[in-house]
Amino acid sequence: MDGSIRPAAQKDRAAIKGILIRTRAFRPAEIKCALEVFDAGTLDRDSGYNVFVFIGDNAPLGYVCYGPTPLTEGTFDIYWIAVDPRFQHQGIGWRLLMWAEEAIAAAGGRLIILQTSSQSAYEAPRRLYRRSGYILEGTIANYYSPGDDMLIYTKSLQP
Ligand SMILES: CC(C)(COP(=O)(O)OP(=O)(O)OC[C@H]1O[C@@H](n2cnc3c(N)ncnc32)[C@H](O)[C@@H]1OP(=O)(O)O)[C@@H](O)C(=O)NCCC(=O)NCCS
Repeated sequence: MDGSIRPAAQKDRAAIKGILIRTRAFRPAEIKCALEVFDAGTLDRDSGYNVFVFIGDNAPLGYVCYGPTPLTEGTFDIYWIAVDPRFQHQGIGWRLLMWAEEAIAAAGGRLIILQTSSQSAYEAPRRLYRRSGYILEGTIANYYSPGDDMLIYTKSLQP
């Protein structure tokens, strides 16, 4: 899929909300939280949330949000990544993840953390993370709800 990645702006909000809804991966409370983070990142560049969108077909088709993990030295979280289901399986998720990794490395990051759910609906991100060299470093059983574990993936960046 041809396209480019640029910093997200408030004008992208409605498109990103639509993508979050259409993925069917997130509950309403999670979409609300994702949009709060999106707002923080786009309204205040010093918020600690960096948001980038993938533009293709003249519209946002996906986005990634990452930031330094508070109270750490060189550890970063990738908080959200989502691609419009109509444009998945074309490498956009991988490009957004690589973009975030390169930006984190450029900012002096050395360790990336990704958290996701053990539910079958999250198999696609888990495959993307594994394929991109992330290691499943920890599990917190029943974290999100009974039977829904938190999986913690990490990747160390080369100095
Ligand atoms: C996880 C997610 C972002 C991946 O986005 P994506 O754009 O589909 O990712 P990619 O296209 O890079 O990779 C997906 C698959 O397509 C394949 N693919 C990539 N480019 C391709 C191409 N040109 N032709 C055919 N297949 C291709 C990849 O090999 C990969 O296959 P695999 O899953 O069997 O390993 C997307 O599934 C998503 O938005 N999920 C819902 C939200 C979510 O769960 N987010 C994570 C929690 S915050």
